[in-house]
Amino acid sequence: MATAEPIAPAAQATNGTPGTPAAPIERSLRGCDLLTLADFTGPELRAILDRAHELKRLQHERVPHRWLEGRTLAMIFEKPSLRTRCTFETGMTQLGGHAIDLASEHLQMGTRESVPDVARNLERWVDAIMARVFLHSTLETLARFARIPVINGLSDLVHPCQILADLQTIEEHKGHGQLGGLTISYVGDGFNITHSLLFTTGVLGLDLRIATPKGYEPRADVVARAKELAASSDGRIEIVNDPRAAVKDADVIYTDSWISMGQEAERAERQRVFPPYQVNRELVALARRDVIVMHCLPAHRGEEITDDVMDGPHSVVFDQAENRLHAQKAILTLLING
Ligand code: CP
Ligand code: NVA
Repeated sequence: MATAEPIAPAAQATNGTPGTPAAPIERSLRGCDLLTLADFTGPELRAILDRAHELKRLQHERVPHRWLEGRTLAMIFEKPSLRTRCTFETGMTQLGGHAIDLASEHLQMGTRESVPDVARNLERWVDAIMARVFLHSTLETLARFARIPVINGLSDLVHPCQILADLQTIEEHKGHGQLGGLTISYVGDGFNITHSLLFTTGVLGLDLRIATPKGYEPRADVVARAKELAASSDGRIEIVNDPRAAVKDADVIYTDSWISMGQEAERAERQRVFPPYQVNRELVALARRDVIVMHCLPAHRGEEITDDVMDGPHSVVFDQAENRLHAQKAILTLLING
């Protein structure tokens, strides 16, 4: 798998129109792409989270909210998915709209038809594109050539929809608007989930501690950009190799698969290196008594997380999975309608 493009040095939120400069801080999110959370300010992230909480309440109370009546989302998957596929499609249906899963064997993006031409076609028919891709640069190309919002459903750089759902989940367990000052300890591989945590938590004033094996730290350019973003808040970012030091007195412990989609060739080496980073009962005992344990799923029980922790009283993993639905409905309504 090739490496993603280097990240841009400044916020690059676009409105999907080729050549349009980045929008000012105070802006409607209508027409924006969601490629990485580094493109969004603290108040914009707050607005997405507030919308997500509101939409969850409406859904649970069975209050109709058909805010995207007649709208269509195109979904592109270069990699497998359960949560992303199901929650985007269900979300569009609940909002009165419709989602089309462009099965990759028919679409063959980049071989049957170029990425720019896929974008130029889709913008004539649908209102937004959600894409899960191997290379983050594929998303950037889609966004450059489609004058409709492009939403990142996971790339080799980041997984922004996941982290928005996770922030919603943390607020549910730790208090609405209470993110500032919490300690989040991420233990495992410094890949796309870690990068999205880096781009968000500092901005929101959290204390983010990351523990990875040597050689599996998050990308240096992502860390540098995240520290730049966190500088204007009280957010703190620390990267270590000792998982026990990272989780000490943590409010949140977060882990992810040791072998992400696309890294299967490295399985044997990763299974040798990562076991000291397993989230198990002993590790959780070092955190605060009310710690919550998070995982984006799919989980590999017995590898990065043990059964007793995943099914235990601290685990909120299925709340995270549910909140993918509500957070993405918030994103869809804000990007499509404003
Ligand atoms: N967490 C997540 O994105 O799940 P899927 O890979 O099943 O979509
Ligand atoms: N890091 C994982 C996240 C899966 C939701 C992967 O990229 O496979």
